[in-house]
Amino acid sequence: DLDCFTHDPGFVATASCKSKITYIDGDKGILLYRGYPIEQLAEKCEFTEVAYLLMHGELPNENQLLKFNLEVSDKAIIHESLRKFFDGFHYDAHPMAMLVGVVGSLSAFYHSELNNKDPAQRFISATRMIGKMPTIAAASYRHSVGRPFVYPRMDLGYCENFMNMMFSRSSQNYIDQDHYIDQDFVKALNLLFILHADHEQNASTSTVRLAGSTGANPYACVAAGIAALWGPAHGGANEAVLNMLAEIGTAENVPKYIAKAKDPNDPFRLMGFGHRVYKNFDPRATIIRKTCYEVLKKTQTDDPLFELALAVEEHALKDEYFIEKKLYPNVDFYSGVIYKALNIPVDMFTVMFAIARTAGWVSHWLEMMEDPNKLISRPRQLYVGPAQRDYIPINTR
Ligand code: SDX
Repeated sequence: DLDCFTHDPGFVATASCKSKITYIDGDKGILLYRGYPIEQLAEKCEFTEVAYLLMHGELPNENQLLKFNLEVSDKAIIHESLRKFFDGFHYDAHPMAMLVGVVGSLSAFYHSELNNKDPAQRFISATRMIGKMPTIAAASYRHSVGRPFVYPRMDLGYCENFMNMMFSRSSQNYIDQDHYIDQDFVKALNLLFILHADHEQNASTSTVRLAGSTGANPYACVAAGIAALWGPAHGGANEAVLNMLAEIGTAENVPKYIAKAKDPNDPFRLMGFGHRVYKNFDPRATIIRKTCYEVLKKTQTDDPLFELALAVEEHALKDEYFIEKKLYPNVDFYSGVIYKALNIPVDMFTVMFAIARTAGWVSHWLEMMEDPNKLISRPRQLYVGPAQRDYIPINTR
C-alpha cells in the first residue's frame, strides 16, 4: 500500500511504494536482493538462480533450480508467426525498437494470460518473459546483420544459450575456434546479468509497476519498461558511454570533456557517472571494474577504449566538482566496455540491460499484482500554467 500523498501544495507529491525485493543504501553503497548482498550473489550464483530469488523471495534448492531452468529453457522458443514479425523491420532498425515492438506483441499470443487473475498463471507469464527475452534480443541482432536466426537450445545454460543465438558459438565447439566461446566470457555475461537484474524503483521498473497497477497484461507492462529503459539517462547510458568515449577519442581530450561536463550552460553530461541514489561508489561498478580487467586480459586486446575509460575515471575522481557533487562511476560506465570486448555491438548494449532487468521487472510486477491497492494513484502535480482566461477568436490573435 502506498504512503499517502501530501496535499501540501508546496510539496510535489511523489509516489512511494513498499517492496520486499531490493534494498539500496546510496550513501553506504549497499545493494541487497531479497536481503542477500549483491557481492555474494555475483560471486556464487548463476543468473537464473538470482531471477528465481527475485521472483519467489528465496534462493531455490537444487530441485527448484533444475525445474526453473527447464521451464525457462522450454519457454525460450518463440512462435514462428512471432519470428516473422522481424521481416517487417528494416535491417537498420535499432534493436531496442524491435525489442519493444516484439515483446509487446507477445500479448497477441497468450490470450489466457491477459487477465492476470490466477497467481500460478502469473508466475508462468513471468517465467515465459525471462525465457523469451534473450531469444527476441538475439533475433533483433541477427535481423540487423542479415543472418539467419539461431534457435534456443535445451542443452545450454541461460547465458551460453544467448551467446549461441547471437553468434552461433558454444563452449562445445572446441575444434572450430570461430564457433567456440570461452567459459570466462559466459561467466562475465552471467555476472553482468546478475548485477543488472534489479535496482529497486528505478525509472523502468516504476514504469512496469505503474502499468501493472492498471491491470495491463505482463507483456504490455514489460514493453513499457523497455521503452523507459531506452533513455540515455537510464539504460541507454552504457551505449552513451561508448559513444562518448569514441567522441573523446584520446586521453589528451579528457580534460576538455570534463570541463564541458562541469559547465552549467553545457548540456553535456559525463555518461556513466552519477546516480540518483548512489552518492558513493555504485557497488556494481566496483565489481564490474575487476571483471573488465579479467575479460580484457583474456581477449588480449589492450583495448584503447578501456585505457581511455580509466583516464576519464581517473580525471573525474580527482576533480573537485565531481567530488563535491558525489559523482562516481555507475554500473553503466564499465558494462559497455565488457560488452564491446565480448563483440556485442554498441546498439545492443541497452538490449543486454533489458534481458537482465526482465528478472526485476517481472518480480516487481508479481509483487504489484499481490498488492490490494493495485492502482498507483496518479501522481499529483503542481500547476504552474496560466490562470483561467477567455477564448480569443482567431481573427483577433
Ligand atoms: C542507471 O535508478 C536507477 O537505479 C538506475 C540504474 C538502474 O540500475 O536501474 O542504476 C541504471 O540508470 C544508472 C545511471 C546511468 N545514467 C548515466 O550514467 C547518465 C549520466 N548521469 C546523469 O544523467 C545523472 O547522474 C543521473 C540522471 C543518473 C542522475 O541525475 P541527478 O539525479 O540530477 O544527479 P544528482 O542530483 O546527483 O546531480 C547532482 C549535480 C547536478 O548538478 P546541480 O543541479 O547540483 O548543479 O550533479 C550534476 C547534476 O546536474 N550531474 C552531473 C552528472 N550527473 C549529475 N554533471 C556532469 N555529469 C554527470 N554525469
